[in-house]
Amino acid sequence: MGLFSKENKAGQVDLNNLPCHVAVIMDGNGRWAQKRGLPRSAGHKAGAETFRKLGTYCKNLGIDYLTVYAFSTENWKRPKDEVDGIMHLLEQYLHECIDTMEKDGNRLRFLGDLSVLTPELRELIDETNEISSRIEGFQANVCLNYGGRDEILHAARAFARDCAAGEQDADALTEEGFSRYLYSSGLPDPDLLIRPGGEKRISNYLLWQCAYSEFYFCDTLWPDFTEREFDKALIAYQHRERRFGGLKQEKQK
Ligand code: FPP
Repeated sequence: MGLFSKENKAGQVDLNNLPCHVAVIMDGNGRWAQKRGLPRSAGHKAGAETFRKLGTYCKNLGIDYLTVYAFSTENWKRPKDEVDGIMHLLEQYLHECIDTMEKDGNRLRFLGDLSVLTPELRELIDETNEISSRIEGFQANVCLNYGGRDEILHAARAFARDCAAGEQDADALTEEGFSRYLYSSGLPDPDLLIRPGGEKRISNYLLWQCAYSEFYFCDTLWPDFTEREFDKALIAYQHRERRFGGLKQEKQK
């Protein structure tokens, strides 16, 4: 029988059955801003706040990893001022993390093709990587210039190069071996993928890693996504039966 938290706002989240890794598509920032007559950048700013708040919530609950989709390989098609605004928010966030992550015991990792980012952003990322390497505990992962297909192609190219160099044997490749070439190398697969904002698609996010993730969709726009909404997603997850392609588990006699 599960242990139910007294403090938890929903009073229903089973703390013995938490997902280890939650992934989120932070959708609906633009619509949130539009509804208020604000520029889209205000929606992304509010979305970044929601990410900070829910990162702390995950950590306090005992969830090990929170992975968010901050900028996709397709998002470069957006107007330059919107792209610049998101990059600026990330830069601000990185500065904040450099000041606080060691004290708070929070690790940060970036997944994606970071080679096209500005040298300033890359330097800040290097700095947070260095700090993270000295810390244990909760980890936030930010997908940046990330695409699921791009990730698989990038991994396939690297694997092919290692085969050509005689360091790998194509016939001996396993799923586990291939996953070590992905940006997410070493991370457990997400148990739960949350997409707020009303759309019900995967949008090129963690295509390899979400093979057996549970999906939770809702209409709430990301900047309005509260801890209570997060609880609802956790409770929905806890009512799912995960079979990983097998059969229902019989109760132990
Ligand atoms: C999708 O909503 C959101 C994005 C493409 C950007 C998300 C980025 C942030 C929240 C800032 C990242 C910063 C940190 C600190 C992680 P949308 O703009 O497509 O919304 P819409 O569907 O309503 O237009």
